[in-house]
Amino acid sequence: MTIHIGAAAGDIAETVLMPGDPQRAKWAAEKFLDNALCVNKTRGMLGYTGTWKGHRVTIQGSGMGMPSLSIYANELLRDYGAKTLIRIGSCGAMQEHVGLRDIVIAMTASTLSTPSKGLFRELSFAPCADFGLLEAAVAAARRHGATTHVGGIYSSDVFYDERPDLNEQMVRHGVLAVEMEAAELYSVAARHNARALAVLTVSDHLATGAALPAEDRERSFGEMVAIALEAAFN
Ligand code: HPA
Repeated sequence: MTIHIGAAAGDIAETVLMPGDPQRAKWAAEKFLDNALCVNKTRGMLGYTGTWKGHRVTIQGSGMGMPSLSIYANELLRDYGAKTLIRIGSCGAMQEHVGLRDIVIAMTASTLSTPSKGLFRELSFAPCADFGLLEAAVAAARRHGATTHVGGIYSSDVFYDERPDLNEQMVRHGVLAVEMEAAELYSVAARHNARALAVLTVSDHLATGAALPAEDRERSFGEMVAIALEAAFN
């Protein structure tokens, strides 16, 4: 076990799906995995390991924001030997052509700062997705008939943003959506020679203020889990 994950050595699969919400980890494990066992309860950040079509998978909550995700990603890669981390989560659309329920697959993640930033000093590191995973996720999303956007996203540290000028620059530069974790996920994975990807559903729209009702969030979340699993084992 590690400081933040109570799982025994060997309890974590090489492929880990990471929703922000630990209850979503439970929901996805119950819906998609065979023989799912709860492997982590520390701080209520639930994790489950089971199999999907015979492949061993862990679904571990990351919490919200890059500092929280960074702790789990570091421990999964460094201490448990995970090799593939796929974030499944929600995002806020920043472009008019990106609609509620659409799938956003993040090729890159721009950010003001990540917990990894100190390593790079004045260099502006460009966190990017694993191309093989990205390609497989795009193919899976299209098979599911999902309206899919592939491009840059913005990993912000603030949900209640008091500085809209920065969002304006992101919109102007074609960034598809905002969320709060992917840039650090991609940076930590790169450091550990691991594969990473963020597959997101649009839960709200920054320009219009439209937001998905709770029932729709569950349906969108299920589609995202399926896409992530198909991408991981393509
Ligand atoms: N901002 C940041 N993260 C998000 C948002 C948002 O508007 N929507 C979903 N995740």
